[in-house]
Order: sequence, then C-alpha cells, then structure tokens
Amino acid sequence: FVERTLAIIKPDAVHKSEEIEDIILRSGFTVIQKRRVHLTPEQASDFYAEHYGKMFFPSLVAYMSSGPILAMCLAREKAIAYWRELIGPTNTLKAKETHPDCLRAIYGTDDQRNALHGSDGYSAAEREIRFFFPDSVVEPIPVGQ
Ligand code: CMP
Repeated sequence: FVERTLAIIKPDAVHKSEEIEDIILRSGFTVIQKRRVHLTPEQASDFYAEHYGKMFFPSLVAYMSSGPILAMCLAREKAIAYWRELIGPTNTLKAKETHPDCLRAIYGTDDQRNALHGSDGYSAAEREIRFFFPDSVVEPIPVGQ
C-alpha cells in the first residue's frame, strides 16, 4: 500500500536538488509536498531531538542550520524502506565503499554531511512530516463534524 516518508536534501546537496528530484521521480515516488527552509539552530535541535546528548549533536545542528534545505513528503509503495535503500548508509565514506550507487555515496560530503535524510520508521515519518508540513491533512475529516 502507498506510504509516506519525509526526505530532506541537506545544505551540502541543495545545489544538486533538481538532479536529485529527477532521480526521486524516476524511482517511482510522488512528491506530495515540498518546502525550501533555512532552519534555525533551535529548529534543527528540535527536529533531531532523539540525538540530543550524542557526541555528533552540536555539529549536526550546525550543519543542518548552515544553509537552506529542501524538505519533501514522498509517497510510494513501501516509501519508508525504499527511500532509505535509495539513499544508502548514514556514513558517506562507508557508503562510497559499500554502496557506490546510493545517493549518499554520490552526493554526500563526509561522515557527518551525508546530503540526504530519510525517516527511519512509520512513527518517525508521521512526526517528521508534521514537523515540516503541520497543515497537511492525514485522515479524511468526516463531513458534518
Ligand atoms: P540522518 O539520517 O539525517 O540522521 C542523523 C544525522 O546525524 C545523520 O543523518 C548524519 O548527518 C549525522 N551524523 C553524524 N555522525 C553520526 C553518527 N555517528 N551516527 C549517526 N548520525 C550521525
């Protein structure tokens, strides 16, 4: 069945966003919503709250607030798993060795700046889509209520 996921083109790959969007469409995804935003450090911390306290958290926040990003709500059958497969391993340097065709291997910069984000599960996808697209209607609203 059709599922939704949140994709982010991160600051280091925004200049390649047209090329990346072409690949997204050719891979069978529909772009349901799209937003270009420049996150403040506070907003980036909020989005990545689950990583608070980890060693890489301060540099992750600096990276994600360093320039504009493109947030996209993607839909496709098994969108969550398929988008993660397409972007590949988190660490760009490892991705280049083991999955040279994945998007992070192609567009990523280093072990921190990995060009793309994808929700890692159903509840993360719901939360992350709402983070960037708070007005999106997920369930049909019953008439007359
Ligand atoms: P993302 O999939 O968006 O989720 C968390 C981000 O933190 C990750 O991509 C990387 O950009 C960054 N990061 C940097 N170092 C690490 C690490 N050791 N483990 C996980 N994520 C990391």
